[in-house]
Amino acid sequence: MAPHASSDVVANGAVNGSARTAPLFTVNSPNVVYTDSEIKSQYVYHTTEVTRSADNKLVATPKATNYHFKVDRKVGKVGVMMVGWGGNNGSTVTAGLIANRRGLSWETREGMRASNYYGSVVMGSTIKLGTDAKTGEEINIPFHDMLPMVHPNDLVVGGWDISSMNLADAMDRAQVLEPGLKQLVRKEMAEMKPLPSIYYPDFIAANQEDRADNVLEGSKACWAHVEQIQKDMREFKAQNGLDKVVVMWTANTERYADIVPGVNDTADNLLAAIKDGHLEVSPSTVFAVACILDNVPFINGSPQNTFVPGALQLAEKYGAFIGGDDFKSGQTKMKSALVDFLINAGIKLTSIASYNHLGNNDGKNLSSQKQFRSKEISKSNVVDDMVAANRILYAEDEHPDHTVVIKYMPAVGDNKRA
Ligand SMILES: NC(=O)c1ccc[n+]([C@@H]2O[C@H](COP(=O)([O-])OP(=O)(O)OC[C@H]3O[C@@H](n4cnc5c(N)ncnc54)[C@H](O)[C@@H]3O)[C@@H](O)[C@H]2O)c1
Repeated sequence: MAPHASSDVVANGAVNGSARTAPLFTVNSPNVVYTDSEIKSQYVYHTTEVTRSADNKLVATPKATNYHFKVDRKVGKVGVMMVGWGGNNGSTVTAGLIANRRGLSWETREGMRASNYYGSVVMGSTIKLGTDAKTGEEINIPFHDMLPMVHPNDLVVGGWDISSMNLADAMDRAQVLEPGLKQLVRKEMAEMKPLPSIYYPDFIAANQEDRADNVLEGSKACWAHVEQIQKDMREFKAQNGLDKVVVMWTANTERYADIVPGVNDTADNLLAAIKDGHLEVSPSTVFAVACILDNVPFINGSPQNTFVPGALQLAEKYGAFIGGDDFKSGQTKMKSALVDFLINAGIKLTSIASYNHLGNNDGKNLSSQKQFRSKEISKSNVVDDMVAANRILYAEDEHPDHTVVIKYMPAVGDNKRA
């Protein structure tokens, strides 16, 4: 295949796999019913309810809850719109999807590398389906074959950024990918341009100002911003013939928004605060509100409190899907795994010191105290549940000393050290 072949020619091709049309397995149970369009299942979730008797003895009572699940068998055409599309995450994910869709290989110092989805929970992990009836061997299947799921090769990608740079230049700015790969995806990515976004300078570090050349008018929340985001999502859906759009916040970490009674504490107050242009409404909350009102799933990949109580209430009211609190994909994940292992092995941790050296734009933004504070909270509280679960090692108010340091070191670039 020519390196610059149009993605349309090969998109969704069978070579690199796109959504499976026939399921890998079927379930043989009266609790699971297949129709042409749906899989309907009943699932009994067994848990244990614990009460305290008058003499302070614990009483454990098994509890069963019936759940009814319904899954569409046709996945449909799905689009992802990233807020912060031109950042390191956004440009790298986009190049990765193109490389996989086109089955690209490229030369590196160590030899040829081929695209794959290693590092993806959905595409790179397996799950135990059961045990072979004859041999007793475990049968493990790809996670993505458990249920009908969109194949990432089939995703249509778009989004917003306060920086106008096209995705090819943004990929160069990010300094993440190998030159050989960049050359193969450059033409396609040069045609991808982020939509203008909302920029409220008070929420991200002042050092981000010089890249903000692609912004909608207005520097605080307003209803016109909600409507523009909704318009962008609807147009993206129509232009690409999509059945569903998902929005993901992968923009800069914002400072925490203060929770102010009468402003962002209830759904109605939050909507009124946006209309009034209140200064404590962050861009990420405005995006979340636009998505909730349009029934578009919204995923938050950064650590700030996007989901203020008013946003949560609004999502419940509209039955909208929102989720996410920082990607926690790197050092934070390692720390959680280590703390879990140690405490569950009965080893008492007395101090945790985590050092992060970042030379990318994320590090630059986090060199500002208010934005760092959002990250510090997110990185610190991952150990709290594990400590609170072990009253043998830790007394009621006892915690390990926990220090989180993030230093911006430009020379490190995107080769983070943690
Ligand atoms: N990459 C990781 O390993 C990782 C892990 C966990 C969390 N995160 C978080 O993910 C986020 C993105 O990381 P990154 O490395 O891609 O950062 P980045 O700085 O390279 O990208 C962020 C992008 O967001 C844009 N932006 C800022 N405010 C915006 C707004 N209001 N609307 C639209 N675009 C806006 C910026 O111009 C920039 O292009 C950060 O909050 C980071 O803390 C990253």
